[in-house]
Amino acid sequence: MTRPVLIAPSVLSADPARMGAEVAALDAAGADIIHWDVMDGQFVPNITFGPHVVAACRSATDLPFEAHLMVHTPDALVERWIEAGCSRLIIHPESVVHLHRTLANINSSGARAAVVLNPSTPANALAHVLDLIDLVLVMTVNPGFGGQSYIASMEPKITEIRTMIDEAGLTDRIDLEVDGGISAGTIDAATRAGANVFVAGSAVFGHPDGPAAAITELRSLAEAARA
Ligand code: DX5
Ligand code: ZN
Repeated sequence: MTRPVLIAPSVLSADPARMGAEVAALDAAGADIIHWDVMDGQFVPNITFGPHVVAACRSATDLPFEAHLMVHTPDALVERWIEAGCSRLIIHPESVVHLHRTLANINSSGARAAVVLNPSTPANALAHVLDLIDLVLVMTVNPGFGGQSYIASMEPKITEIRTMIDEAGLTDRIDLEVDGGISAGTIDAATRAGANVFVAGSAVFGHPDGPAAAITELRSLAEAARA
């Protein structure tokens, strides 16, 4: 079975003064997942949301929340993110000493674990943890900000990871997500490289016809690229 195309808007580009309403609007616009870009000002040169902000928005939608943890010491707040309503925690191997232990702890704490790779981090960082995750996220920008340009040189890594997942017999269990500079102009190439889940912030919130038009366009372009 091929995993479905899923659109995961990033609320980094949302209006922070109206976050609850923005999350509800993404639900109404057809989003599949809400992508929370959590930044601590240390792992990346920016600061965003704490668990209390996520928790405040939990009642705005029934959509799944995933937390992209661009933070040092993600282990410290695993239970807080889950209590806040995140069903998936996405961990940078660059941010932990014991990745296997961190992922296993997330699973035993009741959430789904995922791994996200910075542009310079090779695919083989995944080699011994595929059994602990249900999603791999490939960064197509250097993390920290929305509105950056897509790094096309990540496409061979996306394809390498797609091959890893398929050859491990995990095609129907592990999603391959991309994040950074995903738009109508880049989603075709990212799909052909092997991605099936797409994070988009500025392309969704900056679309002239609004988030629903953006999400519909992104979904149809990705599905056409798979046809
Ligand atoms: C960057 C974040 C991305 C970013 C995507 O550190 O992880 O999720 O918000 O924003 P766009 O889609 O505008 O590149
Ligand atoms: Zn992200």
